[in-house]
Amino acid sequence: MQRQHPSRETHAHPVLKHPGRASRIRVDSGEAFEEHVMFFRKFLRAPLKTGSVLPSSEYLTREMVKPVDWPRARHVAELGAGTGVFTRRIDEMYRPDAEVLIFEKDDAMRQRLHAQFPELSFHPDALHLREILAQRGIPPLDGIISGLPFSNFPPSLRNGILDEAAGALAPDGVFVTFMYSLRLVGDLKKRFRSVRTTLVPLNFPPAFVHVCRGPLGVSH
Ligand SMILES: C[S@@+](CC[C@H](N)C(=O)[O-])C[C@H]1O[C@@H](n2cnc3c(N)ncnc32)[C@H](O)[C@@H]1O
Repeated sequence: MQRQHPSRETHAHPVLKHPGRASRIRVDSGEAFEEHVMFFRKFLRAPLKTGSVLPSSEYLTREMVKPVDWPRARHVAELGAGTGVFTRRIDEMYRPDAEVLIFEKDDAMRQRLHAQFPELSFHPDALHLREILAQRGIPPLDGIISGLPFSNFPPSLRNGILDEAAGALAPDGVFVTFMYSLRLVGDLKKRFRSVRTTLVPLNFPPAFVHVCRGPLGVSH
């Protein structure tokens, strides 16, 4: 499908490169309420997998997408999209020839997002990240944005997905993840040469955004 072409200038900070698409998928207050209810119901059913009672705030969303070099990024993935707060921003930012893969385990949420963003490619399980890239012939990723609740995962799942992220990232790519504590910084430092952390107080609960660069050798 032919998409509107973005401007070619380089942006130091994220800007809306596809305002047409932004307005097309803008969420009105009714839809936002419905999303919050959906998210909360999902939290009641599966608190550990969902990881939070509310979707991420606008402030957190901004910090999460900012580190990706959108004018250059050709291959990007989002892990744990939920109701799509980051997906909506990614959809506004990606260049027209980029491939964007979205991973969301919950079937209802994934199908809902797929209907909203038919140009993106959807997959259930972040644990299969490298397998999906290999199947689709996609090279290492320029950016990975994760909303996965790593702190709630058992260590085997947490380590498995962090290995996938580090192993799937290009040497100059960036992995961005948020957490509600600093407890897992050591797990990130084992896999990335640089881990830079910022606190986002205007989120419920306040969150730490970890920006990870320089993937280190990861076992396969
Ligand atoms: C805290 S929510 C984040 C949603 C959204 N990105 C946000 O920040 O509001 C985490 C999401 O990760 C999904 N998830 C959990 N395990 C997953 C996995 N192995 N692969 C893909 N998604 C997963 C859950 O279903 C849930 O929707």
